Amino acid sequence: MLSTLTASNGSTTIPTIRLNNGIQVPVLGFGTAIKPDGKHTKKDVSEDVKLAYSEGFQHIDCAERYGNEMSVGAAVKQLVLSREALFIATKCMFLFPISTWLHGARHLPTATDEPIVGTNPEPKTSLQKSLDLFVDDVGLGKTWLLMEELQKDGKATSIGVSNARVDDIDEILKIGGIVPAVNQIELHPYCYDKAKNIVDYCHSKGIIIEVFCALAPLTQFPGGPVDVVVKDIASQLNATEDQVLLKWAHQVTHGGIVLVSSASCKKTRLEGYRKAFTEMRGLTRDQLDAISAAGAKKHQRVYGTRMDEEPSL
Ligand SMILES: NC(=O)c1ccc[n+]([C@@H]2O[C@H](COP(=O)([O-])OP(=O)(O)OC[C@H]3O[C@@H](n4cnc5c(N)ncnc54)[C@H](OP(=O)(O)O)[C@@H]3O)[C@@H](O)[C@H]2O)c1
Repeated sequence: MLSTLTASNGSTTIPTIRLNNGIQVPVLGFGTAIKPDGKHTKKDVSEDVKLAYSEGFQHIDCAERYGNEMSVGAAVKQLVLSREALFIATKCMFLFPISTWLHGARHLPTATDEPIVGTNPEPKTSLQKSLDLFVDDVGLGKTWLLMEELQKDGKATSIGVSNARVDDIDEILKIGGIVPAVNQIELHPYCYDKAKNIVDYCHSKGIIIEVFCALAPLTQFPGGPVDVVVKDIASQLNATEDQVLLKWAHQVTHGGIVLVSSASCKKTRLEGYRKAFTEMRGLTRDQLDAISAAGAKKHQRVYGTRMDEEPSL
């Protein structure tokens, strides 16, 4: 369980959502896939994680492929936090077969040589507590069964999937014994027309949606039909456009989790993100629908088209 927020700015705590195993997760997560040059993920995110924590973020999203888990461990150490102060998620990578995690052959490196996340079967310090959430980034199928073993062994409190379609979820539910806690997917108004299916399907199965690329209309596809609608709603609510898009993503996923990142990592940016969840009121049904309808005019995605190609069931 997360300990009470002790962020220095006295900010209001970001609300949490309950996973299907009873674990509470902050609905706003700080993602560490930060690309300062637009291409390469930053390898040392310790300062960013520390700033995010001071701004009220307690949920950190990592991935093996980002290559910066070690610096997340360093940030926790430098902040002198108990492991319970943060909810830490990471995602496995295809290149490192999950069986090496399972059998403890590979421990995630940390600045302290004490895995903050990973597979140490005999935790010795609070820093070695198991992962809060381990997400199957690309494997699915057989990988899922290995992940179930990780959870049963207590090496990950919760397990989930990423970029999973309805047919992927169905396969997991057929072969597995544990319902994924989350499905981490790209979601913004320009892909919602096709993503609505997986969003609602996950909801019906008790799988929480974790959104990435919520800000794509601003960052990847500026000048599209969503801009004017979001700008108008932002001015009605005395909010910023990114706050409106974060709120939209949270609400259309039935109160799901939204991941954000920041290359500039300025205090004002992180504060703006956080305030969307601690101070801003919700969008009305009409406002949500207006944004969705504008996005449906121009379907586009940041990450490939596989999620659009849902096989007919
Ligand atoms: N599972 C997967 O396949 C997957 C894929 C991608 C990402 N993720 C996760 O999701 C996290 C979030 O990543 P994301 O790509 O979705 O990031 P994002 O939060 O959608 O976008 C972050 C970018 O938006 C910019 N921004 C914020 N407000 C803005 C505004 N009002 N106008 C213009 N630009 C604005 C920020 O600029 P500044 O730099 O100026 O702040 C920042 O560079 C990642 O870190 C990662 O953990 C997962």
